[in-house]
This record gives sequence, structure tokens and C-alpha cells, in this order.
Amino acid sequence: MITARGLTKLYGSIRAVDDLTFDVVPGTVTGFLGPNGAGKSTTMRMMLGLDRPTSGTATIAGKPYAALAAPLREVGALLDAAAMHPGRTGRAHLRVAARTHGIPLARVDEVLEEVGLAAASRRRIKGYSLGMRQRLGIAGALLGDPGVLLFDEPVNGLDLDGVRWIRSLLRGFADEGRTVLVSSHLMSEVQLVADRVVVIGGGRLVADTETSALLTGAGGPRVRVRTPSPDELLRSLPAHAVAERTGDHEIEVAGVAAREIGDLAHGIGVRIHHLAEVEQSLEHAYLSLTGPASAADAAVATEGAAR
Ligand SMILES: Nc1ncnc2c1ncn2[C@@H]1O[C@H](COP(=O)(O)OP(=O)(O)O)[C@@H](O)[C@H]1O
Ligand SMILES: [Mg+2]
Repeated sequence: MITARGLTKLYGSIRAVDDLTFDVVPGTVTGFLGPNGAGKSTTMRMMLGLDRPTSGTATIAGKPYAALAAPLREVGALLDAAAMHPGRTGRAHLRVAARTHGIPLARVDEVLEEVGLAAASRRRIKGYSLGMRQRLGIAGALLGDPGVLLFDEPVNGLDLDGVRWIRSLLRGFADEGRTVLVSSHLMSEVQLVADRVVVIGGGRLVADTETSALLTGAGGPRVRVRTPSPDELLRSLPAHAVAERTGDHEIEVAGVAAREIGDLAHGIGVRIHHLAEVEQSLEHAYLSLTGPASAADAAVATEGAAR
């Protein structure tokens, strides 16, 4: 379990993190979402004791990071810029970390195997691709077999195989009962794997909910209607309906239930060929929560979803 309570970080006059309160619970993957600059990395650094909160607290397994007796056995982390000595081999890098933290060296080969780096483990890190470095960073996070895992934008720069691999890895960790927090500025990267999402914007909490709940947005579900007479139907919708033409013979309506639209069409003698509630796209939900600042991200997210 990870908790944030009133967590706040000021850099000079910039409120990087502003009064965040949320829990990250075991057995789930929690997506930590927000546009670039929202405060995700700062929040995670405070959880890991790498940055001091201006006010508020972050705890892991009930304690601030600094109070954990064996931090690497409690929490593993992959941060944005994982510092690695380029002249070392991947295996040597992990052996140093293991030795420093009293972890048996045999564990190094186990985690190298787990992340698919066993074959490359005796090569120098400077020859590793970005994907291999990410794998090595994840191996480092796993060294102490921790119950809590934090990943800051782990799929940045990875190819599709890498993205899929990370997703299944995260799912597996949660299914084993671990607490998994994974940040991203792209909805599409976490929507397939996150059970819950915590969304922040400008350092503040904007949503803390089950991923599925994001799908039914504020105005209730949208209704898609196909009819040979869309204009006639549009004219007779109640004033509070928000409707748009989505095709020659198709409209989408928010604010009016499917049943009402069916009855209304029947009343005016308009034929209906299709009538269905449609789920709001998660990008759409994310955008409406985080505002136009993330429009560019959302465009990328849509591309990502199409891959
Ligand atoms: N070390 C720092 N010094 C000054 N400002 C910082 C520092 N780290 C982050 N910031 C600022 O804090 C805000 C949040 O940044 P960050 O946590 O990196 O966001 P995210 O990870 O969501 O992209 C940004 O405005 C960023 O410029
Ligand atoms: Mg960041």
C-alpha cells in the first residue's frame, strides 16, 4: 500500500504537487496519469524519499521511505532517468546494487532471466538499446522482491513488443498481490492494464477512480442513432440534449437516454435502424479531466491506441 496525504511540493513559487491525497492498494495496477509537467515524477520521488515534501506525507507499507528497515525489499522503482554506469555490464550493475543492500548474488541472475536480459547480461550497458536499459532498470526494481513497485513512464521510447511486455509484467505483479503504481502521460498506455487511475493536472488531483468508471463521463452515456431522417430527429430532441451529426445517417446524442430517443422517434414517425449507448473513449475522458493543455498528448495517445 502506498498513501499520499496532503502531499505538496513547491519549487520556489511553482506548486509542482499540490495537496495530493490518494491510496494505491495491493493487488491492483494503478495508472498515474497526467500531462507532462503535471507532477507525477515529483510525487513518485517524494514517495521514494528522493525529494522532501514541502508539506504532507507519503508512506509505503505505513512508513515514510526513510523509515523502512530494508527499502529495496519493500519497494522497487524504475524512475525516469535511471542512472547506470555505462562501462559496467548489466550483470555487474545489478551485483553492485545487490551487494550494497545485502541481497544474495544469486538473485541477480534470477531477475536478469525474468526480464529477458540473461543473454546480454555480460555486455556493457553503453551498448544496450533503450529497451534493454528499461529491462535492466526493471530488473533492479525487482532485486529485493518487493511488494510495492513504482514505474515512472516505463514504456517511454519502447517499441510495441516492449510495451506489451511491460503491460503483462505489471499485470503479473498485481496478480501476485503486489502494489503497482505506473505513471504515464498517455492514457492509451495504461488503459489496457490499469485497474484504477489516479489523474493529476497542475499538481492537483482530478480523478481517483476505477478505469471503467472513466468510461461513463459526466453527461452520462452517449447514444448513437442511425436513421434515414437524422435532421428530423435532431430538430425534435429536447433543448438540453447535446447532439452532433456523425454521419450521413447517424447522430450522437448526450443528455438523453436511449429509451427516450426511441420513444420520441416513434412519436414523430422517424424510423430507427440502430440505437445504442456508446462508451466514451478514455482519451476523451482524460482530456475532459485534464483540459486542453493535454490535447497534443491525447492526439499522440490516439495514435498509440491505433497501433
Ligand atoms: N527539481 C526541480 N526544480 C524546479 N522545478 C521542478 C523540478 N522538478 C520538477 N519541477 C517542476 O515541477 C512541475 C512538475 O514536474 P514533474 O513532476 O516532472 O511532472 P511530470 O512528471 O508529471 O511530467 C513542472 O512544472 C516542473 O517544471
Ligand atoms: Mg515525469
